[in-house]
Amino acid sequence: MKGARKMNSNSMASSLKLFIPLFVSSIFLSISAATVVEDLANLHPPSDFNTTITSNCLKDPSLRYCSFSPMNLDEIFRFTIVASHLCNQSKNPNCVESFPRIDLSSQPKTAPLYLSFSFFWKYCPISILSIDLSNNSLKGTFPTDILLCTQIQALDLSHNLLSGDLPLQAFTPLTNLTLLNLSYNLFSESRISDSEFFFKRFNNSSSFLHSGLLPNHKKYRIKAVVILVGFPISVLMLVGGFWWLCFKNKHKYSNSVLKAATNGFSRKNMVGKGEGFAIYKGILRNGTQVRIEMYYLNNSSNNISRENCRKFVEDCKILVQLRHKNVVKVHGWCSDRYSRALVTEWTGEVSLDMWVSESAPPWKQRLKVLVGVLKGMCYIQEQWPEVGYDLRTSSVLVHENAEPLIARFKVGENSSTKKIYRFGVLVLEMVTNGRVMREEFEGSEAGLLECFKMHYPGNLQKLIDERMELTENTFEQAKEAIGIGLLCTDHSINRQLSLGQIFNMITRIYAACLVLATQNHKTSYADGGRGHKRV
Ligand SMILES: *[C@@H]1O[C@H](CO)[C@@H](O)[C@H](O)[C@H]1NC(C)=O
Ligand SMILES: *[C@@H]1O[C@H](CO)[C@@H](O)[C@H](O)[C@H]1NC(C)=O
Ligand SMILES: *[C@@H]1O[C@H](CO)[C@@H](O)[C@H](O)[C@H]1NC(C)=O
Ligand SMILES: *[C@@H]1O[C@H](CO)[C@@H](O)[C@H](O)[C@H]1NC(C)=O
Ligand SMILES: *[C@@H]1O[C@H](CO)[C@@H](O)[C@H](O)[C@H]1NC(C)=O
Ligand SMILES: *[C@@H]1O[C@H](CO)[C@@H](O)[C@H](O)[C@H]1NC(C)=O
Ligand SMILES: *[C@@H]1O[C@H](CO)[C@@H](O)[C@H](O)[C@H]1NC(C)=O
Repeated sequence: MKGARKMNSNSMASSLKLFIPLFVSSIFLSISAATVVEDLANLHPPSDFNTTITSNCLKDPSLRYCSFSPMNLDEIFRFTIVASHLCNQSKNPNCVESFPRIDLSSQPKTAPLYLSFSFFWKYCPISILSIDLSNNSLKGTFPTDILLCTQIQALDLSHNLLSGDLPLQAFTPLTNLTLLNLSYNLFSESRISDSEFFFKRFNNSSSFLHSGLLPNHKKYRIKAVVILVGFPISVLMLVGGFWWLCFKNKHKYSNSVLKAATNGFSRKNMVGKGEGFAIYKGILRNGTQVRIEMYYLNNSSNNISRENCRKFVEDCKILVQLRHKNVVKVHGWCSDRYSRALVTEWTGEVSLDMWVSESAPPWKQRLKVLVGVLKGMCYIQEQWPEVGYDLRTSSVLVHENAEPLIARFKVGENSSTKKIYRFGVLVLEMVTNGRVMREEFEGSEAGLLECFKMHYPGNLQKLIDERMELTENTFEQAKEAIGIGLLCTDHSINRQLSLGQIFNMITRIYAACLVLATQNHKTSYADGGRGHKRV
């Protein structure tokens, strides 16, 4: 076998002279049945090789080996062997006449072998214009030997595992290289200053996609990540942040917001007024109607002290948590250098005294209101004992269906210890005609109390609102309620009376009243409507 091959190669050596200058190794085409490795191990330059080479160089001095002096014949011979194999391997049409490209794509077994023949690359045939070593899982750093083929126009090393820095300087001699495909590799990111200019060299068919070295390729990736993942996240965070801010400040209103809601705190919007405060009806920008309780500063202090301010906000933060049908719902507050205000739900500004004097509600309704007030008081006492409130017929509001609302909180003040006393007064006021009370006693609680004490229990008729049209039974209930009211206001004993006890007493009366009402209702049918006895 070996002999035959040698024979063949020797016989082909003569033909080499015919097919110069492009390709010296055409003599070996006949031995391509053997592997390049075998040929390299077994073949030695023919005796006339020196002559052949010399002759080639005379005809085409541009042949690379011609520039070497002295010429390493053995090495050049080995080069010709590799070249002949590679040309055939690369499916070039006619390896005797042309070797325009190295195509070792998708040949992961042979490509590294050819790459390892550094003597081949050293004498790289000048006919080669295109080198394709893509898709070969080539590892290690960039194969700089390839760049010894300075005449190439296209180089494809895509889909490999090449890593490290790209030797940008080594590309300089390759002035005709216009297509460079390094996509899908693991190169290190090249420094922008060099690479910017470098990558512009190559034409539109070139690719550095996923090569690792595209100017800031990784950053593009990071950017992509930022855009694809980070952007939604940041949007979420932003929204979340806004939401949090909104939530955090949900209860906080600025003076300007309240000003806008009340037409600049106009008189028209003012629905109530008291010492140190005014109540406005406001409409927020979202259409919500609110009740704004503005607190005014004492003349003595032009500025709200930091401590007061802190206390006010602290109290407000508690108030916004209150949830009871008999306690007005606090939306928020305003606290700045100039003003303090409490913003609550708008329930219509009907106070208990207005309700009593204007709509003359029946006894049952008044009792219901008292029960409601007590429920609200109990809720606050049990859940928010730190919350203080003002309990007056002028400050308790009446919502629809005779549902009272404790609406004036003592914000920033210590909670009142006189709640039971205040409830007592409220009971007494509820059984009188508010207007009478105001006119006869000029709004003096002390006067009213004195009067009730004087006339209790025998002579209450003139104090009780006659518009209630009490029956004998309901009159007794009213009397009982007055008794409770007096108990509550009696300083000597009110400490012993708990809110729970008062609640029990009042609800008992209310229950009795309800029972009576249904009985009366039945009776009025039974006896032709004569069930109601006037007292
Ligand atoms: C060259 O390669 C082809 C396959 O591409 C093969 O058939 C042929 O035997 C090889 N050798 C020569 C001398 O053509
Ligand atoms: C090759 O031949 C030239 C003359 O043609 C000679 O000068 C040179 O020494 C020879 N080289 C070898 C390695 O034989
Ligand atoms: C890469 O080479 C493998 C064989 O090694 C082949 O199956 C695959 O199709 C090639 N991919 C490309 C993109 O050429
Ligand atoms: C580039 O191509 C031109 C024209 O084909 C040629 O003259 C020149 O030598 C080539 N450059 C290199 C570095 O091979
Ligand atoms: C890019 O350069 C290569 C090699 O010179 C060439 O074959 C190819 O047509 C060029 N592509 C474009 C889009 O110019
Ligand atoms: C690539 O193509 C664009 C138009 O698609 C053209 O403006 C640009 O000059 C081309 N670049 C190269 C290097 O061919
Ligand atoms: C560069 O390589 C990529 C990946 O193999 C391929 O999709 C692309 O067509 C190649 N470009 C050229 C000009 O060969």
